[in-house]
Amino acid sequence: MPFHLTDEQELVRTSVREFAEAEVLPLAAVIDREHRPPLENIPKMAEMGILGMTLPPEYGGTGSDYLSLVIALEELSRCCATTGVITEVHASLCCTSILRFGTDEQKRRYLPDMAAGRKIGAFCLTEPAAGSDAAALATSAQRDGGDYVIDGQKIFITNGSFAEIFIVMARTGDEPGAKGISAFLVDRDTPGFEIGPAERKMGIRGSSTTPITLSGVRVPVSARLGEEGEGFKIAMSGLDAGRTGIAAQALGIAQGALEAAVAYAKERVQFGKPIAALQAIQWMVADMATDIEAGRMLVYQAADLEDRGQPFAAAAAKAKLFCGPMATRVTHAAVQVHGGNGYTEEYPVERMYRDARITEIYEGTNEIQRLVISRGYLR
Ligand code: CAA
Repeated sequence: MPFHLTDEQELVRTSVREFAEAEVLPLAAVIDREHRPPLENIPKMAEMGILGMTLPPEYGGTGSDYLSLVIALEELSRCCATTGVITEVHASLCCTSILRFGTDEQKRRYLPDMAAGRKIGAFCLTEPAAGSDAAALATSAQRDGGDYVIDGQKIFITNGSFAEIFIVMARTGDEPGAKGISAFLVDRDTPGFEIGPAERKMGIRGSSTTPITLSGVRVPVSARLGEEGEGFKIAMSGLDAGRTGIAAQALGIAQGALEAAVAYAKERVQFGKPIAALQAIQWMVADMATDIEAGRMLVYQAADLEDRGQPFAAAAAKAKLFCGPMATRVTHAAVQVHGGNGYTEEYPVERMYRDARITEIYEGTNEIQRLVISRGYLR
């Protein structure tokens, strides 16, 4: 399906690209080296309207469609994959879940601060014994009068070290598996909510990935997101949209790597001419560009289905299943074009290669995407 972006979507691309090249790119290598989030860019992203992109204006958002957010994520990730994932978890997984499932009071309480970047969101599903098998989570939320008391452990929580609002999935009933799970909005400063030290990761090193321990964390019933027992569906539908966002992150990383490889190939001289004149390099560039275009179609298609209110979970899974490995292939080739230089921190493709790998893992591994896709055909 050919894609004709609207003038508004084209404007999002141009303005986010300009912003990313001016503000995000100069920090990309620094935050990677220092393993620190680019917090100085959060107010700037809020000012640009990126953090509340899919929220209606009454909550401080720009009321854009999901495809616009996806384009923004692609452009941010083209310059810095860390900034891409911070934004994706906040704007897609968290803001969208609160907008869809929150009460009026919850939306008024959180969304304006989230759009303004005063409160960043985090999504707490994964546990030590519940990764791909998310329905096996063991964190419990026991009803106690007008409160719930939450106990358990979460791991790999993106934005953990600086987020202010956490969507926490916990077990409220005796029913096993998905049915007994509910979702809660937990403020960072709630007593008993303890954020552990950030993981030292292979890539997206600027993004903070932390464990969280919940010990007797007391929240009022009004902090429950959705009905009791709806938590798994809330998590899954958040991830459906989130998977398009991560596919867009992978797409942006790959696009950045292709551009870096092309620039290097034109300037690097071997055998008396720029290596761009060698067929070996030309073929690599052709394969990279084709891979990226195919991925872009899948990503935009999934976002467009969502915007048109059509079922999009399988399309999002296909986009992520294609774009994660595609980003790994493209960044691998980009390192190869750079030869020995590509293996050093002097050139951005080394970081891109490490960053790409996570897009095959988080928000559902390649294998989980295959499970989601095949169920649609085989049930
Ligand atoms: N939307 C709404 N409801 C859904 C749904 C969806 N996409 N998928 C499943 N459900 C519902 C089902 O309809 C079912 O409800 P009923 O019994 O009422 O019909 C219920 O949820 C249970 O569904 P399944 O039987 O399909 O559940 P399952 O245990 O077989 O697991 C799974 C499904 C797809 C494997 C799921 O566990 C999964 O997606 N696992 C991967 C987890 C994951 O992606 N984790 C990412 C962590 S967050 C992260 O990475 C963010 C970050 O920091 C970057």
